[in-house]
Amino acid sequence: MAKSSAKVTKIHANPVAESLQHLLKDTYALFLLTHNYHWNVEGQQFVSLHTLFEQQYTEMFAAIDEIAERIRALDAYALPDHYAEMLQAVKNLSNPLNKETDKDKTADRMIANLIALHESVVKSSQAAKKAAVKAGDDESQDMAIGRIQVHQKSLWMLKAIVK
Ligand SMILES: [Fe+2]
Repeated sequence: MAKSSAKVTKIHANPVAESLQHLLKDTYALFLLTHNYHWNVEGQQFVSLHTLFEQQYTEMFAAIDEIAERIRALDAYALPDHYAEMLQAVKNLSNPLNKETDKDKTADRMIANLIALHESVVKSSQAAKKAAVKAGDDESQDMAIGRIQVHQKSLWMLKAIVK
């Protein structure tokens, strides 16, 4: 009993680590979705979207590792109890492939889902930045600012594609 409560304490070691755990979960969900759409996108924009999604999931894969290792540096565990929530974020979106429609509309629906998740990652990054500022944790603040910049840039690109 004592052992498990010690573990809980370590999981939520500090508010910065906790905010980074949420950022990690949200980034992972977006990574999974982007990778999936890289495989499944079709239509006239196939080549450009297939390539753009690859650039985005590759960048996120590296970032996920950085965020997770920052959480460990803060003496907390990375993604300890967020797996179900992470998959739920993807499941909550409508699946563009389930709809009988033309391929270009499917691609637009994929982009709309990606925009929604990028926006939620920006919010998680902003929450992490706020927690880091409050704690005087410059390194986590710097990481959070970097993530905000990346996801805002991705949002600009994705929004520029949809009509
Ligand atoms: Fe690929």
